[in-house]
Amino acid sequence: MLRIRRYRVFVAFTIIFVLTVFHFARSRDWSPAAESAPLVDLAESNGPPPTAPKQDSTSSQHGFVPEDPVKPEPKKPAAEVVGGAGAAGATDQELDTPQKTPPKDSTPINKPDKIDSTVQYGNSLPGILDPDFGPQGQGRLEVTLPNAPGRTIPHWRKFPEHFPVPSEKLIKLPTGQPKKIPKLQAQFAKESSAEQVARKQKLATIKEAFEHAWNGYKSNAMGHDEVRPVEGGYRDPFLGWGATLVDTLDSLWIMGMEDEFVAAIDEVKKIDFTTSDRKDIPVFETVIRYLGGLLGAYDISGQKYRALLDKAIELAEILIGVFDTPNRMPLMYYNWAPDYVSQPHRANTRVVLAEIGSLSMEFTRLAQLTKDDKYYDAIARITNELEKMQDNTRLPGMWPIQVDASGCKKARRKSPQLPPLGKAEEADGANVPSPPMPLRAPTDVESYMNYINPSHQKRDAGSSAQEDTQPAVYDTLPTQTPVARAPLVNEAGESYCEEQGLASPPYSSSDKFGLGGQSDSTYEYLPKEYMLLGGLVDQYRKMYQRSMEAVRDYILFRPMIKDDRDIRFAATVTSTRPPTGKDDLDALSYQYEGTHLTCFAGGMFAVGAKIFDMPSDMALAAKFTDGCVWSYEITATGIMPESFEVLPCQNDASCPWNETRYNEVLDPHPEYRVKQAELVYEKKLKLAQQAQKDLEKLEKAPAHDQENRISQRDLKFHGGEEKSTPSKTVEDTSGKQASGVAVPVKPSVLSHEDFVQARIKEERMPPGFTKITSRKYILRPEAIESVFIMYRLTGDNYWREKGWKMYEAVTAHTRTGLAHSAINDVTSGAPQLLDSMESFWLAETLKYFYLLFSDPSVVSLDEYVLNTEAHPFKRPT
Ligand SMILES: *[C@@H]1O[C@H](CO)[C@@H](O)[C@H](O)[C@H]1NC(C)=O
Repeated sequence: MLRIRRYRVFVAFTIIFVLTVFHFARSRDWSPAAESAPLVDLAESNGPPPTAPKQDSTSSQHGFVPEDPVKPEPKKPAAEVVGGAGAAGATDQELDTPQKTPPKDSTPINKPDKIDSTVQYGNSLPGILDPDFGPQGQGRLEVTLPNAPGRTIPHWRKFPEHFPVPSEKLIKLPTGQPKKIPKLQAQFAKESSAEQVARKQKLATIKEAFEHAWNGYKSNAMGHDEVRPVEGGYRDPFLGWGATLVDTLDSLWIMGMEDEFVAAIDEVKKIDFTTSDRKDIPVFETVIRYLGGLLGAYDISGQKYRALLDKAIELAEILIGVFDTPNRMPLMYYNWAPDYVSQPHRANTRVVLAEIGSLSMEFTRLAQLTKDDKYYDAIARITNELEKMQDNTRLPGMWPIQVDASGCKKARRKSPQLPPLGKAEEADGANVPSPPMPLRAPTDVESYMNYINPSHQKRDAGSSAQEDTQPAVYDTLPTQTPVARAPLVNEAGESYCEEQGLASPPYSSSDKFGLGGQSDSTYEYLPKEYMLLGGLVDQYRKMYQRSMEAVRDYILFRPMIKDDRDIRFAATVTSTRPPTGKDDLDALSYQYEGTHLTCFAGGMFAVGAKIFDMPSDMALAAKFTDGCVWSYEITATGIMPESFEVLPCQNDASCPWNETRYNEVLDPHPEYRVKQAELVYEKKLKLAQQAQKDLEKLEKAPAHDQENRISQRDLKFHGGEEKSTPSKTVEDTSGKQASGVAVPVKPSVLSHEDFVQARIKEERMPPGFTKITSRKYILRPEAIESVFIMYRLTGDNYWREKGWKMYEAVTAHTRTGLAHSAINDVTSGAPQLLDSMESFWLAETLKYFYLLFSDPSVVSLDEYVLNTEAHPFKRPT
């Protein structure tokens, strides 16, 4: 018996281990490229050139969620769960599902021929596969519960904090006279009246588009998160509180739609932040869209509409609970229901950098407006941890795109000092069998500790609280009164948690670094937070400048393109270097890409250059922003795709187009490709000959039994298959043998140059691109954001001209009868509409277009600082 029991435990843990390894193996590479189709399918290289990757797996606006090849079943049978991807984006799964119904007006769209109804639940694997990484969660998640009568909907309630910060330890907002920060905006020359007329015309055009989309939302989806711009109706991927409503408030004000603004506030008053059909709050998305939206609207309207601030406080009271962890690092996906909130929790071991690093501006602004330091304390602790980590990563100066925020070093669990599993019972003197494994592994850390050490749980149930008492495991916080279910202690009362600050996720042997979706706004918020704090916290300047050293050295590169335009893109770097290791260049590998999400960085470089007096970064800012402009200009629609790959220049100073090098990437192994095609042909030929022989044999024999006839048909069928293959030119064909087995067609193997040309044509590859990893455009703002900032900071008309072209391209291809819609393929002359309009279209994209052509005094960047969702916060004066 005993042996069987032990064996069972062993098997269970082996399974966990294998699944964990499996999970890691797959989660190692999150890049879109990793999941897209192979460059050339050599086995079939006699056919047409490979088509575009079937799947995009880009992260979404501010993020993150890679598409998971394994599609777990929805866990909640009662809920209709529609996946969206990551903070601020929709999964391609969702978005690549073109819509059946044509738009309600005459806007031409293509009718899609295939509807994919796949739904996706989250991005993490359910249950046991994902015990240690916690509920990774995702920004967008549509949940619609059936409206069953008598269903009780839980509401969030406030509970006493488990790990409160005593008031004397609270990190307080800096006080004192704000420092003088160099002016951001350029001195603008006075415009002629003709120029003014032309500009105002453009402004009116943009405002008309804005009104069109806003009206579409109002009449179809008011109070919901998003309008469905093609079919009509709504979507609720952000808790159903009205993401577009809140996100759009300050745009209404800025565009002079005051009546609409006031009416919208009445709708905002109706929001109930204490409940949702969705069980977890995606904290980052909620902070930048809802909290940022309320605060931006409050500030821009002269702080006259108190309801906006009240609503922000209401929401923040819920959100502040995410910081109630032993190390005060936040839970990024917050299960808000009382039975969860009432329990102690640790932050996750895998947190997306952009999510944890971009809460600072919103909570700081709220602290300033309410004079309540607890909001500032919450984010100042994150900044402190990021600062400590900054020079201790696999690419010093930058932070990995995922961090372990749990505060506990996982290795400790494996340490020999820990009692082996099962020992606890023996120590108790009670030779009781281990309790059965729970069906599903818990997803928060302390429950997981219970899970792997069941004796702890057992004790919990009956014993006095004293046994579970542990001293607080943090030094900046006071000793805690014991919590009812003390986490992370073994039966000896020792803490399992070997403390640490922010770190690489457990067991990771490499980390990724970049400026894209999973990290972006963490960097963006450093100079912005510096401005919001009136320059009084120098930490943000130091961290930004340090990070920029690494960005300049490792991330930025010049792509090889056909004209000699000197542009820059940002690579993603994977480093296997140990955090304390030397500058080992071999430990770095690069993905040379252009992504729409990264386009924000041009504006960031420009702002940093001015406020921190780093003039050379201004040239970099222009080159980087121009790279995004180029990416718009080079496609059929005039719109940049979500993500693609390019070739880096070998020399940034001079980088002539090298056709040989480019072709080598598009057809890297032509000899192998040719040989492979021949081998395949020979094999098929042999098979056909064999089939022919067999057939002849059969035909000679009398076909008296069923079996034989079937075989004959089979042979004919298989032999004949070749005919229907859309092989190209045909050297054929003696092959009309009487008995019917067709001889395979000798493939015409394309020459290197022809193959490359065919690929370029087939994949609609703009010159310079080597691969398009995601072809869609989902109404994103980042490129026009940087163009707008470049214009305001330099006064150079170049940016207005480029911005107008972008505006025309974007609106021409996305407008529907109701609003505007994401499109599936910017390289196609007639892209399909994806029936999705994220709230950032009204909150950001159209706002930036509008501000580009408004008078520069409207939302002056010397008076306001915009959060990552383009919500303007008043800067101190
Ligand atoms: C162009 O690329 C090829 C292949 O990478 C290389 O051998 C050649 O030297 C390059 N030509 C120039 C002028 O750099």
